[in-house]
Amino acid sequence: MSLILGIETSCDDVGVAVYDSKQKKMLSSVVFSPTAMHAKYGGVVPELASRAQFEHMHEVTAQALEQAWVSIDDISIIGVTYYPGLMSSLLIGVSFAKALAWAGTKKLIGVNHLEGHIYSAFLDDDGRMRENLRFPFLTMSVSGGHSSLYIVRSFSSYECIATTLDDAAGEAFDKVGRLIGFGYPAGPAIERAARSVGNQDFFSYPRHKDKYSLNFSFSGLKTAVLYDLVRRGWFDLKQSLMLEDLTPERAAQVASSLQVCISDIFEDRLRRAFAQYPDLTGFAFVGGVASNQYISGKLRGICERRGKQYVSPPLRYCTDNGAMIAFVTAQKAARGEFDNWHLDVVRQF
Ligand code: KG4
Ligand code: ZN
Repeated sequence: MSLILGIETSCDDVGVAVYDSKQKKMLSSVVFSPTAMHAKYGGVVPELASRAQFEHMHEVTAQALEQAWVSIDDISIIGVTYYPGLMSSLLIGVSFAKALAWAGTKKLIGVNHLEGHIYSAFLDDDGRMRENLRFPFLTMSVSGGHSSLYIVRSFSSYECIATTLDDAAGEAFDKVGRLIGFGYPAGPAIERAARSVGNQDFFSYPRHKDKYSLNFSFSGLKTAVLYDLVRRGWFDLKQSLMLEDLTPERAAQVASSLQVCISDIFEDRLRRAFAQYPDLTGFAFVGGVASNQYISGKLRGICERRGKQYVSPPLRYCTDNGAMIAFVTAQKAARGEFDNWHLDVVRQF
């Protein structure tokens, strides 16, 4: 009863992984990402995403089983993301998981996508479970869909202490990236461009401050960048067009200033969270934005200066993947938290 299949389809990807809960080791993790398809539209088109997921679901699962050197008959539990996410995409994964579980008389477990990111902190470089991460720790989970802070007290207990009031941090990267002509998703391109101009702060964009809470807000930042571009004559608001004066060098300076600004906001929240919750033993940086090496370096520095443990999963477990879902499935299975055939996707309001 130790092999678990984890399935993730909450946004545009299909992620499938095989986890051996006895050895506490990920045996495989395969992700299909149709980014080129969405790049054409500057973002994810839900209808196209779910169609592509439907077409690739079977193939990605077959690859994950093959890479783990196991057959579907060896799998005893199937875990699947059922919330939150795009309804049409979640439906593909949940329906597929139910069909597989039904046909093979396997156990079924629904996993919350956000829990997947939170506990991805336990996944080591070689897919083993990190044994030295001690509770309670703080998790900053930042991606294209969420930006939140959690106090994680055990495998079954965590508390959200801050969230974004509007856009997610990844959205700020993607929306500003779009203004300056970077593809989708813009995060990795922004990181590269920023590095090319020395990761400096050229334009001092405003930092969202709220002395009463640790919440985030990023929609004002996007607007501030837009109006700054217009003021400098680098963007035509009426036609919604980049202008010639926005040279690649200047676009890189915008990218770098944005990255420094977002990093400053994260650093501020981390320092204040450590001050407010002195019993925290460490910090986990997770989600797609956590793959940013400049920001992770800054946050790691804050932890090291305070003698707190810093962890971040390898890049392949930062962005959406089936491994984190398989891992949470294992924790839920150990507690006997199985679902029945009524498992369904949950609409997010
Ligand atoms: O976790 P993820 O794969 O999917 C969601 O659940 O959203 O995160 C994707 C987000 C995108 O907004 C992308 O631009 C951002 O993570 N991202 C980055 C980097 N790599 C991905 N943002 C900043 N720097 C990066 N290197
Ligand atoms: Zn995610």
